[in-house]
Amino acid sequence: MTIYCLWYINNYMTGRKWKTGREVCNILSNYKIGEKIYQMKVETNRKISNLDETASECLSKIVDPGNYIWVRPDNQPRPMLARPMSVHSTNRKNAISIIYKIKAAGSTNPTGTQLLSHMKTGDNIEIVGPSGGNLFTIDNNINKIALIGGGVGVSPLSFLAEEYHKLNKDIHIFAGFANKKEIICERKLEKISDYFNLATTDGSKGYHGNIIDAFAESTYDDFNMIFACGPKKMYQALKKLNIKTPTEVSVEKRGACYGTGCCHGCGLSVKEGNKKVYKRVCTDGPIFNLKDMILE
Ligand SMILES: Cc1cc2nc3c(=O)[nH]c(=O)nc-3n(C[C@H](O)[C@H](O)[C@H](O)COP(=O)(O)OP(=O)(O)OC[C@H]3O[C@@H](n4cnc5c(N)ncnc54)[C@H](O)[C@@H]3O)c2cc1C
Ligand code: FES
Repeated sequence: MTIYCLWYINNYMTGRKWKTGREVCNILSNYKIGEKIYQMKVETNRKISNLDETASECLSKIVDPGNYIWVRPDNQPRPMLARPMSVHSTNRKNAISIIYKIKAAGSTNPTGTQLLSHMKTGDNIEIVGPSGGNLFTIDNNINKIALIGGGVGVSPLSFLAEEYHKLNKDIHIFAGFANKKEIICERKLEKISDYFNLATTDGSKGYHGNIIDAFAESTYDDFNMIFACGPKKMYQALKKLNIKTPTEVSVEKRGACYGTGCCHGCGLSVKEGNKKVYKRVCTDGPIFNLKDMILE
């Protein structure tokens, strides 16, 4: 109820039309795909309850690459707030999936991602979304793209790769992981890309080193567009290459208002011309231009 009120007030004040809502979904599967990494598929058969009567559609039909959803076990005391997770895939019919990595507990209480990993097929999960006001660019005029993913950052890029694959574009994928136990989506990405480069920091599989070093050794100048998702260190290294190609990156910054734009917890500063301006990841992102990012 509180969330709906926040939405209503925010939409009313900003005049925004939100294609978003809350639904209790059924877990279709939830299994381990790597070291501390899980893939969860949920059914989205029911139309999401919505404030915007023009958009009461099934979640799996309206998500696009860059969108994220908020998830938490339904009817459980913990975690109090749902956790944001990028959409990994959709069948555009009745199901979507996410890929998540378990964050270690700092105290005796399990973390939200630990609790998600204990959920079983048939359990109910609360989903709010989709969130994201600025998504990855999908443009038929773009012919050759590079996708650079670090760790679970590969998850939303796989969704983007699928969309560009449908458009028959030249897709080059660079996927980096800490070690071979953390590799995800390898077979799928290899299948839908024209060039696939895998790197592990410890050298246990593929290129030995970080994924930006692997990318730097490629002929990176002739891409029309670069898309990246991964940790801040990866974006810092990518920015240092001083590439002129437009580069979009996905930013992870968690707030507390389910992406309604009210709490300002997901705020970050970016450059706009010579000015530093304040943006919210949930409504202005999560996709930003790398050139505008302040990454110190
Ligand atoms: C837009 C967006 C999209 C996201 N997409 C994904 C996704 O697809 N897959 C995925 O695995 N995660 C994703 N995340 C991150 C995910 O939301 C967090 O990992 C999750 O909220 C952690 O919750 P928790 O309760 O398990 O951990 P908490 O109890 O909140 O934290 C446990 C420990 O982990 C640290 N921690 C928490 N979050 C992060 C983080 N993001 N980076 C580094 N350390 C952290 C905390 O500081 C703490 O030490 C996304 C975040 C955002 C904002
Ligand atoms: S999550 Fe609250 S303002 Fe973005």
